[in-house]
Parts: sequence; C-alpha cells; structure tokens
Amino acid sequence: MIWRIYDFPRINLFGRPTPLEKASNLSRELGVEIYVKRDDVMDLAFGGNKVRKLEYILGEALARGSDVIVTRGSYYSNHVRLTAAAARKLGLDVVIVTYPPQKDIERIEQGNVFLNKLFGAEIIEVNNPREADEKMEEIRRSYEEKGRKPYVIPVGGSTPLGVFGYIDGVYELMEQLRKLGVKPRYIIHATGTGTTQAGIILGLKLLGVRGINVLGIDVEKHEDENRIVDHIYELINEALEILDVKLEISKDEINVVKGYSFGGYGLFNDELIEFIVNIARKEGLVLEPVYTGKAFYALVDLINKKEIKKGDKIIFIHTGGTPLVFQLKKYFEKYL
Ligand SMILES: Cc1ncc(COP(=O)(O)O)c(C=O)c1O
Repeated sequence: MIWRIYDFPRINLFGRPTPLEKASNLSRELGVEIYVKRDDVMDLAFGGNKVRKLEYILGEALARGSDVIVTRGSYYSNHVRLTAAAARKLGLDVVIVTYPPQKDIERIEQGNVFLNKLFGAEIIEVNNPREADEKMEEIRRSYEEKGRKPYVIPVGGSTPLGVFGYIDGVYELMEQLRKLGVKPRYIIHATGTGTTQAGIILGLKLLGVRGINVLGIDVEKHEDENRIVDHIYELINEALEILDVKLEISKDEINVVKGYSFGGYGLFNDELIEFIVNIARKEGLVLEPVYTGKAFYALVDLINKKEIKKGDKIIFIHTGGTPLVFQLKKYFEKYL
C-alpha cells in the first residue's frame, strides 16, 4: 500500500538514503543504543525534514503549472529557507511572509534570515501568524489578478502531501535498519506542526511494522494538550483519504511528549544551550535550541529518568535546522 505515494508527482531534491549513524560515545555513556538518522545531511541548502515534505508539495505545484510559491514562517523557520531554495532550484518565484517567533524577539540577519535573502525571496514582514495567513491570501489574490499562478504552502508544509515525505522517509529508514539488523524500540524527533510525526506513524502502519514507539517531542508547548494530537490525527486521515487506503489509527497511538518546550516555540534557556554544547563536544553533532536541541534533551532526560530502559535501541531523527546555530550564536558565546 505504501507504493501509492509514488503515484503522486514528486520532485527529487536530495540523494537517498540520508546517513544513519550510531552515536557511539553517548550510547556507551548512557547504556543504550542511539542511532541518528541524519536528515540534516541533504543536498539542498543545509537540508532538514522540510525537504522531504517539499518533494511532494512542490511536485503538486509544478503539476498545476504554478509559477510563484507563497509561504510563511517565523524568523527561525527552516521551512521558509528550504522553500525558497527549492523554489529557486525549480526556477520559480518565491514570496515569504515572516514574523517574530515570540513577541519582542529581534530579527538577527544571520542563518535562515540571511539565507532567505540570499535566495532572493520577496520578504514581507508582519507581526504574527494570524496576520501572516491573511497576508498570504492577499498575495495569492494579487498574483492571480496579474494572471500568475501562485501556490500557497501553509506553515511548516503541514499538508497531507507533506505527510507523504515521512512515509517515504520511514520506508528508507526501515530499509537501513533491516540491513543493519537493528529493531528499535523508539523513534524520537522534534514535533512542531506534527506533519513529520504523522508521516512516521502512518508509514510504519502502512509497512506493517509493530513494536516501535514514536515519540514526538513538543517543541512549541501547544497549550491545549489535545490540539496537536488532533491535528496529527487529521493529517493522517486526510493522507489516507487521498491515498484511497482504509486503515484505522487511534489517537492513543499518537504520542506527543510535553514538558520539553522550554516555555514555548523559539524560547530556550542557558541549560539547553549548555546541553547542546555538551553534545557537540561528545558526539560532533550540531543541534540547535529551537527544535532538535529540545528533542535530544528530552531523549537524554527520558533515559536518565529510566522511562527509556538500559539497552533500548533508539532512533533519533535529526530533522535539521543547522543554520539556526549561526543565527543564535550569541547565546552560545559564554560557553565557548
Ligand atoms: C529542524 C526542525 N525540526 C522539526 C520541525 C518540526 O516538524 P513538523 O512541523 O513536521 O512537526 C521543524 C519544523 O517546524 C524543523 O524545522
């Protein structure tokens, strides 16, 4: 059934598979086996989970004859940087509507913010996500009036086609694990909009894999406990509908782990920065404090609290975000 995703238009944006490597030093120290799926290692513009989603989303945009891509995201958004890069690769125009991740957070002209400019995206600043959605609609209408064909991508590429990206991703991962002879007990990754998690859960289901617990670490502190789970559930069911596959997934199978958002989206503290520095020095791995740092912190904390047991095999999906360490460099300085 998983093959049905390949009936949909897709553009190729990176070489497969991305590496799967053991974090040997940390595994030894913590008494578990941690493998890192390096989705931060991709051909397109520093890579990340958004590339997998964009393969299908932009596949549809091209199939519809679109000539300008419109999307939105905060100053920290990896999605907008990768949308800009991918659009340019395809020879398309791109408009980005952007806003502070939280009130009063300054716009630092580095990392993703710099890259958006480097790719020559048209950048429109607003104050918050709600205004951004309104602005995107306005831009869509004005391009249509000019006879252009805009394609609007919602925040984070959170659509059923975005879900396909990680159905494919989990299939790729399971092939690598089969060759290694490793059956993990957990897959752990950062959850923002929930699209990656929806793809992983659905991909495992379509492959008939059982016994792997998918833990999405909430990096945004979704205030209403169930809202993110409901969104993931909806995404899964919308994806099943367009795939024309009948399958039951219960909300109990969707594990979004709370308690590691450090106060909310884009917020972090010294403890998290110090943790990221520590991991870089132990494992040569680059994490950042908006997404992957929080998820990896949760992974280590769950091991320390013995919720993940000694000897367990864990896959950490490194979902990217590398440019953010340059954007947020000043917060690291006192630890260097
Ligand atoms: C580096 C990184 N990790 C994780 C996420 C969360 O992914 P999703 O929105 O699919 O939950 C994002 C995007 O928001 C991201 O840029």
